[in-house]
Amino acid sequence: MPIEFAARTRRIPVYPLAGGYDLGADVAMLASNESCFAPLPVVAQAAAAALGATHRYPDPSYAPLRRALADRYGIPPARIALGNGSCDVLLAAGEALLEAGAEVVYAWPAFSVYPHLAAASGARAIEVPLDDEDRHDLDAIAMEVTVATRLVLICNPNNPTSTAVTLEEVEALLRRVPGHVCVILDEAYCEFALTLGDTYASLELLHKYPNLVLLRTFSKVYGLAALRVGYALCGSEDFRVAVDQVRQPFYLNAAAQAAAVEALRHQDEVERRVTETIAERLALEDRLRGLGLWVARSDANFIWLHLPDGAEEADVVSGLRDRGVLVRAGSSLGQDGSLRVTVGAAAENERFVEALKGVLN
Ligand SMILES: Cc1ncc(COP(=O)(O)O)c(C=O)c1O
Repeated sequence: MPIEFAARTRRIPVYPLAGGYDLGADVAMLASNESCFAPLPVVAQAAAAALGATHRYPDPSYAPLRRALADRYGIPPARIALGNGSCDVLLAAGEALLEAGAEVVYAWPAFSVYPHLAAASGARAIEVPLDDEDRHDLDAIAMEVTVATRLVLICNPNNPTSTAVTLEEVEALLRRVPGHVCVILDEAYCEFALTLGDTYASLELLHKYPNLVLLRTFSKVYGLAALRVGYALCGSEDFRVAVDQVRQPFYLNAAAQAAAVEALRHQDEVERRVTETIAERLALEDRLRGLGLWVARSDANFIWLHLPDGAEEADVVSGLRDRGVLVRAGSSLGQDGSLRVTVGAAAENERFVEALKGVLN
């Protein structure tokens, strides 16, 4: 007789994992919005040094990392939540805030993990369609906030569509959301966003809106995806206390903590990499538009394009794969007939464009 699992387990959607990790080295991995830059050697060394003390649990106060982030962003350490990737903080937020009878509001398509929050908690998910430019429709989102709403998620820049809304637009939404409703601004890609100004700009909002949480990660711009480190800058300490309450202790391993602290010491190199990625992104967008494709105005380290009429998404994705280029099918992310493509190194981007031309012809 099979094991009987909780009903909620059956409701939780399966996360659309990227394939291709078994394909070997000669593949352009453009499916998971990772950084194409390896970590700096000093960052890798910091992680390796931590491995010499793995007989001890990691520091459960996470004090050095909390302090480093506090110094960088001018937010008290007690208002900084950490996690095993920002996903960990997101899922903990769902657990801490949601329950049957409650509602969570977010745009769709957005980050594939959002539907998990409602499914796992029994809350109702209110999914608000994007506008004609595949951007968040914040006005429509504000109109969905009811007495049952506990959480509003804004993915800015949005994964998978790469678009961003301005912070003025975000603030207009915050003004309309009651103070007891938590608003998470998921800024996993904010460092790549020309629309948002610098990475300090949204911090201004934290000072005004205690119900706001800025969710960020070391997985993208800092190139530490494999180590899993995320953080949240919180408008109030309550959020950090709640997400810590629902999780196991020691959620952030020692190598990850050490690497993240070291990574924060090399902002010049981080910015150089961001500049290079943005230049590649703009060039890639131009080339694809030159092919007559609709490409969203990207503020992230990936692009989002609509396939031309008559092109079968599954055929395009498998044709690219046959040519050694891995991208994401829009259908696996909530919108058919589209592709999400990570901006890689110049040679990878070139390979993608040539492969796409081959497939579409
Ligand atoms: C919008 C968004 N938020 C959060 C995450 C989670 O990142 P991590 O758990 O690696 O910090 C991702 C990862 O792709 C993302 O795209």
